[in-house]
Amino acid sequence: MLRPIFTRCAARSASAASLRAAASRPLTSPVSWRATATATATQHAARQYSIKAKAASTSTHQDIDPAKLTIEKSTSPKALLKPEELVFGHTFTDHMLTIEWNETSGWHAPQIKPYQNLSLDPATCVFHYAFECFEGMKAYKDKSGGIRLFRPDRNMERFNKSAARIALPTFAPTALIELIATFAKLESRFIPDQRGYSLYLRPTMIGTQKTLGVGPPGSALLYVIASPVGPYYPTGFKAVSLEATDYAVRAWPGGVGDKKLGANYAPCIVPQREAMSRGFQQNLWLFGEEYVTEVGTMNFFVAIRNKETGAKELITAPLDGTILGGVTRDSVLSLAKEKLVPAGWNIVERKYTIKELDEAANEGRLIEAFGSGTAAIVSPVRTISWKGKTINCGLKDHEESGELALKMKDWMEARMYGDDEHEWSYHC
Ligand SMILES: Cc1ncc(COP(=O)(O)O)c(C=O)c1O
Repeated sequence: MLRPIFTRCAARSASAASLRAAASRPLTSPVSWRATATATATQHAARQYSIKAKAASTSTHQDIDPAKLTIEKSTSPKALLKPEELVFGHTFTDHMLTIEWNETSGWHAPQIKPYQNLSLDPATCVFHYAFECFEGMKAYKDKSGGIRLFRPDRNMERFNKSAARIALPTFAPTALIELIATFAKLESRFIPDQRGYSLYLRPTMIGTQKTLGVGPPGSALLYVIASPVGPYYPTGFKAVSLEATDYAVRAWPGGVGDKKLGANYAPCIVPQREAMSRGFQQNLWLFGEEYVTEVGTMNFFVAIRNKETGAKELITAPLDGTILGGVTRDSVLSLAKEKLVPAGWNIVERKYTIKELDEAANEGRLIEAFGSGTAAIVSPVRTISWKGKTINCGLKDHEESGELALKMKDWMEARMYGDDEHEWSYHC
């Protein structure tokens, strides 16, 4: 079981209430955001890159209460697809979990009900100003048929940070984990027994206030839907080729790239599509012309032999506000410290450039590279195209993965499916 390390999120400040009052002002008026600037001026001075937002909800209001859950079971259970027919995010389970919030009474009673459409007024603020954040996590079936979540406390912590940054309400993480666990167990028939299969869970929060005024939403909806998924690489790893994107940036200092906001994703599609049109599977996001940040929607790791010392190093970009703090990234770092450091590796979070990778590849020091994320766990990289050059990431022609990526996937899956019983695994 997880240790109870959750902390309550910051309460709403008085300034958030005054901001909400400004919600009726028209879009052209800068006034509604001026209070935010004042309220966070001290934080701006202190921060390096990204502001620490105050949450919209308050501890004096009703928090999420799992004891108030009501369950309405579907009367028309869906037919199950064959495991091999599952396509990521295409089919959904029978039910959804919903919890409404408003600024006067806080979180309402949670409901699990049949999966259904949402009905929202066309003026609802999520459609106009992108008050939306989400999470991506999975439930796994263990050998004895038990359902487990993987490090849900990390997803809840990130969900709360994302929500707070866009003036949506926060919640007690343990309460939502308990509800998600109940929901996942209810949908367990959708999770095939085989290794590699899981139930992808998508907690989502949207602002539901009907207003064209720009300000903090006075009401919100938190919902969780679930989609059964198969292994990312059903027939074994397939190394991908990347194109370095230097003409557009995914995130920037002081921005929101370290939050999981829907608004961060739509602008990434065009550069991604351009890379694909030139025959690459993903794009590698550079910051400015040089710094390597993330790959597609994954964090990025490179294994290199240090130029001076010859020591083996596993390097990833630091969480400086421009990188999404992946749960998988954190797990790779922990596992690497636990299992690779004793074998002589150095584990390094630092800024590094594509020039360094190019130089390391030319000198035969680039050992391997891989992306990390919930969907694939790890995704080995064969080449990076940059300024017309091809950087070879250390794989031989017949290889689809380096040794580290393979080991990481095995170590991680052992904890996800409970073969290696560990505190990261949460029994539903
Ligand atoms: C931009 C971005 N980076 C990294 C990740 C990996 O995060 P995680 O390991 O929590 O899935 C994701 C996926 O959610 C992402 O969207």
